[in-house]
Amino acid sequence: MKAILTTAALLCTMAAFAQAPQLNRNNIDEVLNAMTLEERITLVVGANRYVGDENGPGPAPGMPVRRSVDMRGLVEKPWSDGVTAFSSGRVKGAAGDVVPVERLGITTMVLADGPAGLRIDATRPGDDNTYYCTAFPIGSLLSASWDPDLTERVTTAMGNEVLEYGADVLLAPAMNIHRNPLCGRNFEYYSEDPLLAGKIAAAYVRGIQGNGVGTSVKHFAANSQETLRNGQNASISERALREIYLKGFEIVVKEAQPWTIMSSYNKINGVLASENRWLLTDILRGEWGFKGFVMTDWWAEENGARQLAAGNDMLMPGTPHQYDDILAAVESGRLDIRFLDDCVRRILQVMVASPTFNRYQYSNKPDLAAHAQITRVAAAQGMVLLKNENALPLGKKSKVALFGVPSYDTMVGGSGSGYVNRAYKVTVDEGLENAGVKLDKQLAESYRAYVKQEKAKQPAEYFWIIPTVQETAISRVDAEVAAKRNDVCIYSIGRMAGEGGDRTLTPGDWYLSETEQANIDLLCETFHQAGKKVIVLLNMGNIVDMGWCGKPDAILHTWMDGQEAGNSVADVLGGQVSPSGKLPMTIAKRYEDYPSAKDFPMSNGNPGDVNYDEDIFVGYRHFDRQPETILYPFGFGLSYTRFEYSDLKAERRGDELKISVKVTNTGKRSGREVVQIYVGAPEGKAVKPVKELRAFGKTAELKPQASEVLTMTVKLTDLRWFDGYERAWKLDKGEYIISAAASSQDIRQQVTLTL
Ligand code: BGC
Repeated sequence: MKAILTTAALLCTMAAFAQAPQLNRNNIDEVLNAMTLEERITLVVGANRYVGDENGPGPAPGMPVRRSVDMRGLVEKPWSDGVTAFSSGRVKGAAGDVVPVERLGITTMVLADGPAGLRIDATRPGDDNTYYCTAFPIGSLLSASWDPDLTERVTTAMGNEVLEYGADVLLAPAMNIHRNPLCGRNFEYYSEDPLLAGKIAAAYVRGIQGNGVGTSVKHFAANSQETLRNGQNASISERALREIYLKGFEIVVKEAQPWTIMSSYNKINGVLASENRWLLTDILRGEWGFKGFVMTDWWAEENGARQLAAGNDMLMPGTPHQYDDILAAVESGRLDIRFLDDCVRRILQVMVASPTFNRYQYSNKPDLAAHAQITRVAAAQGMVLLKNENALPLGKKSKVALFGVPSYDTMVGGSGSGYVNRAYKVTVDEGLENAGVKLDKQLAESYRAYVKQEKAKQPAEYFWIIPTVQETAISRVDAEVAAKRNDVCIYSIGRMAGEGGDRTLTPGDWYLSETEQANIDLLCETFHQAGKKVIVLLNMGNIVDMGWCGKPDAILHTWMDGQEAGNSVADVLGGQVSPSGKLPMTIAKRYEDYPSAKDFPMSNGNPGDVNYDEDIFVGYRHFDRQPETILYPFGFGLSYTRFEYSDLKAERRGDELKISVKVTNTGKRSGREVVQIYVGAPEGKAVKPVKELRAFGKTAELKPQASEVLTMTVKLTDLRWFDGYERAWKLDKGEYIISAAASSQDIRQQVTLTL
């Protein structure tokens, strides 16, 4: 009898299982209806909630603790080096996983960082294969290229690695506005201008998603600093939010429909971004038409019920507390289950397009050699030549005295979640030698020995910390000997930065260290006395104080170029590539000239609260009103050749302005030119910036005497300003001044249009 009952129960269960719908593109609601409450919650709370440690389940207090989880057994597996990482066990080192509901054919999705390449572990215990990813150029270099097509080529390659290593969503691009030059993550972000940031991010998303994998555009929104990022309150007017801090996100959502968005840690006007229904539902979905799902940033403030009700669909990486909170909230009526169901539905809609759901047979063998070539070419396109008094390109047979630690230990990317486990990096000395440049051997050997010796004292580099070797003082004798023996001097200044902290207003960070300053002074003195040039390379993700810029003969901002750095730098120094990058931010004379300096964590006495009192006057929108404080303007960058602008035309066609301008290479070498279209709007009711970037274009490689007509479109709606009082976008009648410019301070042609 007992045996008969057991068999019957088993048959019932099997029947229920057989009847359970299996998720496909057309039955999302049916599957949702078949899900138990627990299963629905399971889907919205990331897999990390199954993980525990000696303090109990979930993250330890304070800093995020990363652990790994085996999806089959859902047990903790500490990471080999003591730093623990959280991953599905399928793609080791991925940042997060969705919990599958196998009964209904709901699979996992693997979420991995971004943005300079896929961040997964390069090696796996008990596995002889390697899983290196390509370290591509950082965000600010991509935006300095002002080249969405190039960006898309880079991220097409990057997305292929996401696909071929078995991940579903890349946690990138990161696109917060450069409000202040000390933000520790500016290297991942794009610009002080939302149009440039938005266009580059849209191209980034198109490239990644063209592979059939997703992106997570982050950190939505106003995550302008790292200090106290969890819960710091940003007080911003609605006008500044709409015109500056949200604008780039609006562009990327409307132009590229990212699969997902990551909400930021901070509060905006008192409400956490992840709990902000106005932001995540009214604006993002209601106004912009976003179709994907929103996830929290990792371990973001944990009121799961409030987050879901705001339209934050997934809580990453997931904690037991969130699960319990949501369950209790639904059961008590505090959270209407329809909020939860909306979230589940949106996640499933994305999931059915994902490679894991579609059982994509990934190879674990992307073409890393081909991608290395892409990163090499791309990095050279974003370098910005800030100064050049007949020093560059290097002469064919120049003997180079290469000074400065970053020339030999080149920084190719920043730290934190934006780190990439690459197979190798090419340093500047190696790149120059690869290109056949003769380096001062003795000098190179002594730097190499110093770097090796210092590195031996340091812990190995890993994603959260990239140890750097301290700059060393150059002796007068060495400088004098080098100035005799060589034709030219190159000196590198490097700055590391990363997630979790802002940079500091100190020597060695914002300012040159005493050693760096003394080195530059000495090298300029000795080489100039010998009638030879000094070139300075800036190897960093952002900018430094440049009060010293009068001394050297040339300054090339090389950023952080990705793993082929040295080869990319050599391509530009040697003249194979003429620099065509332009600054995506303003370099002011002094830090204090940035309007946000008044209210950035270390200066406002209350770092938990940041008042964006400069309002919409961020970057050149501010500096246009105080041009005397600019050292290098937004949009500035030299070339090895010269360009002339002519025939600027702007005409209204329906709801758009069609703008065209002819660019002619009047110099002696080939090169590309970035043209910026700024529009100055009539005052109307509001105080407005002198002008705002409304379009930009980049020519193809133009031979000497060759021309190209660039045509650009500006929608009339893009000329509007946001009336914070009436809470509406407004287009003022009157005269609009349209400028074609080589930088925000170098206007070449202007026309006026009455609207
Ligand atoms: C970062 C995100 C990142 C996430 C996952 C967070 O600490 O802010 O940018 O995607 O971790 O690693």
